Amino acid sequence: MPEDAARTPADGRTPVGILGATGSVGQRMVGLLADHPWFRVAYVTGSERSQGLPYREAARWAQSSPIPPAVAHMEVRATRVTGEAPLVLSALDASVAGPVETAFAQAGVLVVSNARSHRMDPDVPLIVPEVNPDHLGLLEAQSAQPGGIITNPNCSTIGLALTLAPLHRTFGVRRLHVVTLQAVSGAGIPGVSSMEILDNVIPFIAGEEEKLERETRKILGQLSNGEVEPASVQVSAHCNRVPVIDGHLACVSVELEGDPKPEAAAEVMAAFRGRPQGLGLPSAPRRPLHLLPQEDAPQPRLHRDLEGGMAVPVGRIRDCPLLTLRYVLLSHNTLRGAAGGSLLTAELALAEGWVPGRRGTP
Ligand SMILES: NC(=O)c1ccc[n+]([C@@H]2O[C@H](COP(=O)([O-])OP(=O)(O)OC[C@H]3O[C@@H](n4cnc5c(N)ncnc54)[C@H](OP(=O)(O)O)[C@@H]3O)[C@@H](O)[C@H]2O)c1
Repeated sequence: MPEDAARTPADGRTPVGILGATGSVGQRMVGLLADHPWFRVAYVTGSERSQGLPYREAARWAQSSPIPPAVAHMEVRATRVTGEAPLVLSALDASVAGPVETAFAQAGVLVVSNARSHRMDPDVPLIVPEVNPDHLGLLEAQSAQPGGIITNPNCSTIGLALTLAPLHRTFGVRRLHVVTLQAVSGAGIPGVSSMEILDNVIPFIAGEEEKLERETRKILGQLSNGEVEPASVQVSAHCNRVPVIDGHLACVSVELEGDPKPEAAAEVMAAFRGRPQGLGLPSAPRRPLHLLPQEDAPQPRLHRDLEGGMAVPVGRIRDCPLLTLRYVLLSHNTLRGAAGGSLLTAELALAEGWVPGRRGTP
């Protein structure tokens, strides 16, 4: 690792670089890191379009709160390896993320990425911190590089995996059918045009159904002997883009071992907690799953911001005439599904000693 990466900054917080800081997910990261107790933003990067500009001019800021002053005047850098921070959060477009993230890892930096590029690499952990924190152990298999790469799943997969985990542990999930209604912020900035999406639903999102199907199996899989054996869960997905700004809704029908009743499923979902809650990580929701009793919930506009957008509201748990149960879940795609999820993973990695040169939390 570069020598300066491990240096303790004056305020004790770990310096973090944000790669692709100007986009939809990068902007959320900038917002979430503004007053973070463990991390401070050391630098921000973008494409050639943004390099050399102050962040406030480069980013087409699309958040309701103002740009944090500490970042507003920072110059956007080229996305090149630097040892100024031992940790980077990557919100790079997948067309460039793969080799760039590898270069950072080879230079001794721990990368927590939102891009799809490395998610299915056999030695790269694909983490939902409440579900499979033990998969961070896969980083041992990356020992050829002094840093490492950890990935965040696809935005719709994260909410699905959070709801399936307690069902899988308690009953066993055999197969499921999921239909998503995904927000426009999931397509980045500028994303889909208003002429395409207003008064419309687009029943296709490139690559999304395949990601839901294979990533779910890896996340629910078992780590043993340095590799993840994917769960033998069959997933059939339909993904739709809908005219909602933030918040992916998913309607799930699931077949479970032992034919449990809706009340039993609701009980294990409501009781579900993970390592982030046990460790008291700064971005961890108190309860990962919130069971909503209303017959018409969850709804994106009403429920996406529960616990800062980090909790997943679940409703309409009921019998299914085809499989065992049906339910509806909602996850905030740029918070729990991207920036907030990767930040929670970075907190877990720091707390568990995976960040090069940093021994635990401040
Ligand atoms: N949006 C979501 O809900 C969501 C959820 C989960 C995962 N993801 C993934 O997260 C990543 C970011 O998504 P997004 O929605 O934030 O996309 P976005 O709004 O299109 O932002 C992409 C970012 O990548 C930068 N970039 C593009 N080409 C580059 C290059 N050649 N060199 C360096 N930087 C480059 C852009 O910089 P400039 O602005 O300077 O061009 C921008 O900062 C993607 O891999 C996406 O698949 C997104």
